Amino acid sequence: MTPTLIARDLRKDYPMNGETVHALRGVSLRVDSGDYAAIVGPSGSGKSTLLQLLGGIDTPTAGAVELSGTRLDALSDRELTRLRLTRLGFVFQRFHLLPVLTARENVELPMAEAGVRGPERRVRARELLDYVGLAQRENHRATQLSGGEMQRVAIARALANRPAVVLADEPTGELDAATGREILDLFLRLNRDGTTLVVVTHDDRLAAEAGRVIHMLDGAIRD
Ligand SMILES: Nc1ncnc2c1ncn2[C@@H]1O[C@H](COP(=O)(O)OP(=O)(O)O)[C@@H](O)[C@H]1O
Ligand SMILES: [Mg+2]
Repeated sequence: MTPTLIARDLRKDYPMNGETVHALRGVSLRVDSGDYAAIVGPSGSGKSTLLQLLGGIDTPTAGAVELSGTRLDALSDRELTRLRLTRLGFVFQRFHLLPVLTARENVELPMAEAGVRGPERRVRARELLDYVGLAQRENHRATQLSGGEMQRVAIARALANRPAVVLADEPTGELDAATGREILDLFLRLNRDGTTLVVVTHDDRLAAEAGRVIHMLDGAIRD
């Protein structure tokens, strides 16, 4: 099977008040197409840092990330931006929707940035909102939605450009248990329908359901 995402000996140092924080101390992993991988570990163990490097949001101090055969460090800023937009989907703990836009407009945004035409965008955004169970909310502004609904919109947005991988950082962290459960069910459905997922979580339920669990401790994968 062709690996979708490969991390090779990733290191990340942050300079901090004249000292150095070793956030990642050599992390290697491989995610295959169709995987559902959970990244778990105590606060400060480097989970978010790892996810940001995997998603090309930040660059490693050493080591490399490869997405579908392309090394991220070989790309120009422009190419990397394009790759993030078209090949990766991101889901955050606090949703990161644009409050003034409607649910549908939020889902359309990454398509607009990728140059998808208006009519096609609208059709796909509607399909995606229907897929995440929000067909009746398309014209609500983000501020008029509940937390669970906002996260559904964010998931629809992450899928907009048909990414190779969806990366999520604590996607149930702001939600109550029942709403979190609904988001977990949605992730399971996404994965069953073929979406490759890498999810950082404190949620034991998510870790129990994921196909793989990667345990982080002190900037390394614990085995
Ligand atoms: N921008 C930053 N500057 C300095 N230190 C950071 C920065 N981001 C994270 N760190 C440090 O790196 C370590 C790992 O952080 P993080 O990846 O956020 O962990 P986690 O997501 O597992 O809680 C922590 O010690 C944190 O304080
Ligand atoms: Mg974190």
